[in-house]
Amino acid sequence: MAERPLEIEDLPGVGPSTAEKLREAGYLTIESVATTSAAELAEITEISEATAKKIIKAAREKADIDGFKTGKDIFEQRKDVRKISFRVPELDTLMGGGLETQAITEMYGEFGSGKSQIVHQMAVNVQLPEDDGGLNGSVIYIDTENTFRPERIEQMVNGLGMKGLDAQEFLKNIHIARAHTSDHQMLLVENSRELVNDLKNSEKPFKLFIIDSLTAHFRAEYAGRGTLATRQQKLNRHMHDLFKLVDEHNAVALVTNQVMSNPAVFFGDPTKPIGGNIVGHTATFRIYLRKSKGGKRIARLVDSPNLPEGEAPFMVEEAGLKPC
Ligand SMILES: Nc1ncnc2c1ncn2[C@@H]1O[C@H](COP(=O)(O)OP(=O)(O)OP(=O)(O)O)[C@@H](O)[C@H]1O
Ligand SMILES: [Mg+2]
Repeated sequence: MAERPLEIEDLPGVGPSTAEKLREAGYLTIESVATTSAAELAEITEISEATAKKIIKAAREKADIDGFKTGKDIFEQRKDVRKISFRVPELDTLMGGGLETQAITEMYGEFGSGKSQIVHQMAVNVQLPEDDGGLNGSVIYIDTENTFRPERIEQMVNGLGMKGLDAQEFLKNIHIARAHTSDHQMLLVENSRELVNDLKNSEKPFKLFIIDSLTAHFRAEYAGRGTLATRQQKLNRHMHDLFKLVDEHNAVALVTNQVMSNPAVFFGDPTKPIGGNIVGHTATFRIYLRKSKGGKRIARLVDSPNLPEGEAPFMVEEAGLKPC
């Protein structure tokens, strides 16, 4: 085993200039190269498809890519799946008990629909003991819009109504990084392994990865039509890296996404999440949030591998998420 993690330069045929082109296109890890196509790689790096094939083959040999597993293997791995409770019975029922580990949950909705409120609440709940719906774990939180508020965490901890909780202790277990660009955001996920390893043997191992918002930088930076393919490729890598991290550590990924209004849709809901199919296909669960009458909010489960579609109402109060 190598002492340091392998870099894309460790692949035969990848010199500094090819490596740079790969990184620019969002291929930051050996795994990401291993899972791409030769045609795509050749186009990005301006190498021949034959060379690209060799690079991908080498990456597949070096990368930690799973081959076939039996249903039994997956059954065994899924035995470890745990849930973080929302501590709002309707939301827990909707999600089959809460937010699942080894999965990415995407929440999308318009401004003020409650996305950031929910991520704050889950950053609190995950720290609780399992008996109280938590995973006794800590949080890595990528804040892209400067909307993390320690005061909200404090209010939510106090709002749990449990004796002996110290909000300052909760704040210590939330590791926040501001991401300034989409590339920075991607790097933060890649580099979080070090922090995850440090936390591994602590009292509160890493159990929740939050990105609020997943798509804001991508949307701002890749605005023109011609840049859409690159944006989707990068988002794909990003989601793949995130999934790998939470899959390996039996943790939860919770990401938020804005909606863009689509005036071409006159019936139904005229909004669509950013990142479209890429985000949608890589996220395991998708929740659509909307505001309703009387301050009520509705969460709708729109995509899940094993749960029925459905809706759950909830309130956002000073004390946090509460039943209606
Ligand atoms: N202390 C509080 N007490 C009660 N309600 C609050 C409190 N703080 C925030 N809220 C509610 O949460 C709403 C903001 O929701 P949130 O920040 O989660 O929106 P969002 O979906 O993240 O929006 P954006 O897309 O702009 O990021 C406020 O409009 C308010 O209704
Ligand atoms: Mg927000």
